[in-house]
This record gives sequence, structure tokens and C-alpha cells, in this order.
Amino acid sequence: MPLLAALRAEYAAERPLAGRRLGMCLHVEPKTAVLVEVLLAGGCEIALTGSPATTDDGTAAALDSLEGITVWAANADDGAAHAAQIERILDWGPDVLLDNGADLIAGTVTRGLAVTAATEETTSGANRLKAELSERVPFPVVVIDDSPLKRLIENTYGVGPTVVEGFMRATNLLVAATTFCVVGYGACGRGVARALRADGATVLVVERDPVRALEAAFDGMRVRELQAALPEADVVITVTGTTGVIGAAELALLRDDALLANAGHFSEIDATALGRGERVTDQVSRHGRVRLLGRGEMLNLTAATGNQIQVMDLGFALQAHSLRELARDPSRFSDGPQPVPTNVDDAVAHAMLAALSATR
Ligand SMILES: NC(=O)c1ccc[n+]([C@@H]2O[C@H](COP(=O)([O-])OP(=O)(O)OC[C@H]3O[C@@H](n4cnc5c(N)ncnc54)[C@H](O)[C@@H]3O)[C@@H](O)[C@H]2O)c1
Repeated sequence: MPLLAALRAEYAAERPLAGRRLGMCLHVEPKTAVLVEVLLAGGCEIALTGSPATTDDGTAAALDSLEGITVWAANADDGAAHAAQIERILDWGPDVLLDNGADLIAGTVTRGLAVTAATEETTSGANRLKAELSERVPFPVVVIDDSPLKRLIENTYGVGPTVVEGFMRATNLLVAATTFCVVGYGACGRGVARALRADGATVLVVERDPVRALEAAFDGMRVRELQAALPEADVVITVTGTTGVIGAAELALLRDDALLANAGHFSEIDATALGRGERVTDQVSRHGRVRLLGRGEMLNLTAATGNQIQVMDLGFALQAHSLRELARDPSRFSDGPQPVPTNVDDAVAHAMLAALSATR
């Protein structure tokens, strides 16, 4: 991760986060650990949690053994356990947040806590900041996902191949000659659909935005309504950034033995409608007629190793730069959500170009 390595040296020299208490919610896996080392070098203390089903317990233990950081996260965490971990971090008293899905930010607003600034990593968190948290956040939040760099490099190029990798690792099944239904053709969904198609799958796309649905048709996908696509699909992958996409009515339309998976930040498959499952393997459970992959959480993290190292180097460089800018001069920023500063996007794009072997 050459971008983070350079930032770590700068952080150690400048100590931009000296004295800060950073509350952090991010998938606890090895690449996140590299970002944590950068932030610790900047002088802050950290309390870290992750998301349901995506925590690597070995990484959590390794990070927890470092000075300056406490980790409250376990792979076994479900939604209720995750909510409790968020409360523990808020009790710890952070004054800066690095969030993923806006749970920490929402808790801070509800409790009226004295946080000075935050970053938000993903689309689902950005959506919450624009909807339920609109006009309610009394401190600046730099939305990493609103960076055109992050949306292109991570969401479109990164997520697709790693979700397909998660499908293959979880099932050991063919992608070619298999019919997939991808629900959502946004930045991530188009990457998933394109990666599946490149591997020989038949891809049905369900997308409620007519312009994006037309884009899918021009990309060679078969565009369908959800109710028409479900009975045709061997595998359904949700990636809309909403919840409850697959509920009881949709489950009833699926083929016997259909496989269900999710790549969105919050599970988009209704757990109550699915009911309790029987374990088939670590990554597959049977729920009546259908089978669920990766506990219905992000398949590229539950069944594979998350997005690629270079992709996360870029995304986490945006995080480290943005936190440093927020700490250096908070008056540059207004309250509420806002994009990554253009100078940060430009610096990170230059650094990644310089690091890519294609340009050497
Ligand atoms: N797995 C990962 O590694 C990873 C990485 C980045 C983002 N994400 C998450 O993936 C999700 C999608 O992110 P994105 O950047 O692609 O979002 P996006 O907003 O660009 O795209 C979502 C698309 O889904 C469509 N949509 C919404 N509800 C729908 C419905 N009920 N039926 C059909 N279409 C619907 C929208 O019109 C939109 O085009 C978010 O939850 C995001 O946080 C996951």
C-alpha cells in the first residue's frame, strides 16, 4: 500500500491527530489495519468496531494488542451486537469519527455528543446523511464515497471482481452458463454485472432508475422487472444501497435451490422473511427452498478478502488526507456532508498513477 506508506511517514512527522480520540467503524480486516497504523502514527487514540459478519478475528486481536487502540468487534457479531458495539464507542467519548454506514454519526446526533468532525466511507452512509440525517449534523462530514475517484476505482472496478470471487469461493460453482440477477445498476452493481458477464454468465439486471436501466441494456445486460427476473435466476445478488429488497413475496418467486447473496453495505435480504437457516458450509445456509451466501452480508468480505489492496490503498489514502485536512483547518469546512476537497482527489490520483506499474 504505497500511498498509505507515504502518508504514514508524513503523519509520523506532523502528528496531525495529536490528542484526538477517533471513534472508528470500518471492516476489521488486514487492509484496514494498515490505515489504523497511519492514524496512530498521527498521534490519536482509536476505538474501532466493524460490521456484522465481516470482521477478521485475527486482525481484531492483532490491532487490539497495539498501544493506543481498543477493538470492539467480532466475526460473530449480528445486527444487535453491532448496535451495542457502536454504543460502546460513543460511551468512550470520541471527538472525531471515521464512519462506514453512518451508525456512529447517527448515534452522535441522537445523543447530542460533542464531536468536531467526521468522514463517511460508503454509499449507504452518504444516503443516510442526505435523508434521515439531513440538516441534523452539527459538524463537517467529508463523504469519501462522493469522491469521483472512490466511486470509479473502488465501487466500479473493485467491487465487481471481488464479489464474483466471493461467489466462487463460497460455492465452488461455475459462473459461465449460469443466470444471475443483479439488483441495482449503480456504481457497484454495474461492476458486479460486468464482471459476471465477462466470465460468461447470463446477467439479468433490475434497476429502478430508467437511465441506468438503459445503460445496462447498452452494456449487453437483459433488463427486467424484479418479479420477472427472480423466477429465471439461478443466483440473485442485491446491491442497491437500500434494505428489504428481497422479502417474503420475492422469496416465493425464486426457483428451488436458488442462491441469494448481497453486496450492499446493509443486508438487503429480509432476515425475518428468510427465517432461521441450517448450516450447509461456513458460507452457505439453507432456508427452506433457497440458499443464502455469506449470512446475507457483503459477499466480497464474508467469503473473500474484500476489495483489492491497491483499491483500498486509494480509498484509505482519501480517508487519511481528509482527516488531516479536517484536523488542520476545520473552518474550511461547513457543517453536514460534503465532498472530498478537490486538492485531495488530485493528490491521491497523482500518487496512484505514480505507483501503478502501468506507468513505470
Ligand atoms: N461490497 C463492497 O465492497 C461495497 C463497496 C462500496 C459500496 N458498497 C455498498 O453497495 C451499495 C451500492 O452502492 P453504489 O455506490 O452502487 O450505490 P448507487 O447509489 O450508485 O447505486 C444503487 C442503484 O440501485 C438502484 N436501486 C435502488 N433501489 C432499488 C430497487 N429496490 N430496485 C432496483 N434498483 C434499485 C438505484 O437506482 C441505483 O442506481 C451501497 O450499500 C454501498 O454502501 C459495497
